[in-house]
Amino acid sequence: MSGISSSPDLVTGITDTFLVTDKVALITGGGSGIGQETAIVLAAAGARVIATDIDSAGLDVTRSLAKESGLVIDTRILDVSDPEAVSAAVDNVMVEHGKLDVLVNAAGILITRSALDVTPDELERVLRINLGGTFFACQAAGRAMKADGRIVNLASAIIDTASPGRGTYGISKGGVVQVTRTFALELGPAGIRVNAIAPGWVETGMTRQHWTAPDGTIDEDKRTKYIAKMQGISPMATVGTSRDIAMGVLWLVSGAGSFVTGQVIRINGGAFMA
Ligand SMILES: NC(=O)c1ccc[n+]([C@@H]2O[C@H](COP(=O)([O-])OP(=O)(O)OC[C@H]3O[C@@H](n4cnc5c(N)ncnc54)[C@H](O)[C@@H]3O)[C@@H](O)[C@H]2O)c1
Repeated sequence: MSGISSSPDLVTGITDTFLVTDKVALITGGGSGIGQETAIVLAAAGARVIATDIDSAGLDVTRSLAKESGLVIDTRILDVSDPEAVSAAVDNVMVEHGKLDVLVNAAGILITRSALDVTPDELERVLRINLGGTFFACQAAGRAMKADGRIVNLASAIIDTASPGRGTYGISKGGVVQVTRTFALELGPAGIRVNAIAPGWVETGMTRQHWTAPDGTIDEDKRTKYIAKMQGISPMATVGTSRDIAMGVLWLVSGAGSFVTGQVIRINGGAFMA
């Protein structure tokens, strides 16, 4: 025994710090993977969640998964590559809920191609969604949020390295770090915190591309080998899940993260150490 006694007040106070009760949370890319899991975790922690995506079937799944746990998640179609649509989505939240407390930018795409072969359209598309989508969502939310707003952007472990065929993705995610710092600086005086999470590899719709054929067929052997390779770069010999990343988002947007802004939190099982 440590000899330190805890009172019920202290225990409740600390536990409650991790709740986001009645916070209004807008999530992009909420129809799959990390965004979907974040929507569910924030709703479970008490938030009023609006999950957005271009994929309506994915949003249906998000709503169903929430319902299975007795939660309600509101969903909206939103293409983050359209700054006007992003601004309108924030306006809509303000009209419907009267406030916006939390923004999580999880929408993103990965195009795998050698930098020598990338076309102007491909580069433009990756930057428009991953970088521009994050930038303009931060801008729209930053204009609408009051003191105590919280924004989390999804960067990637690739910010500390380079990966074959993923140059456009890495460039966009390096930019997301600067978007994060820029808005942390500009919104800090208003009491709004802006951080990024740089996840290591987790299995989602995006990463399943490695072993899924265009017709949807899964190459199980390739999947097993790929996951073993990812486990091999972690000192804990493990890969994470979308839940691991979503719990990091919860920490950052809850009161527990109240002294954190302008930071990149690396959640990667130790696979990459800066
Ligand atoms: N999975 C990983 O290992 C990993 C690692 C590091 C970073 N990330 C980042 O985490 C975020 C979530 O990725 P994920 O792995 O959950 O991928 P995912 O493909 O499962 O989810 C991404 C979602 O973004 C949506 N989306 C794509 N283009 C959009 C657009 N124009 N407008 C709105 N939504 C759009 C997709 O429909 C999809 O639902 C991404 O930013 C990704 O780069 C993922």
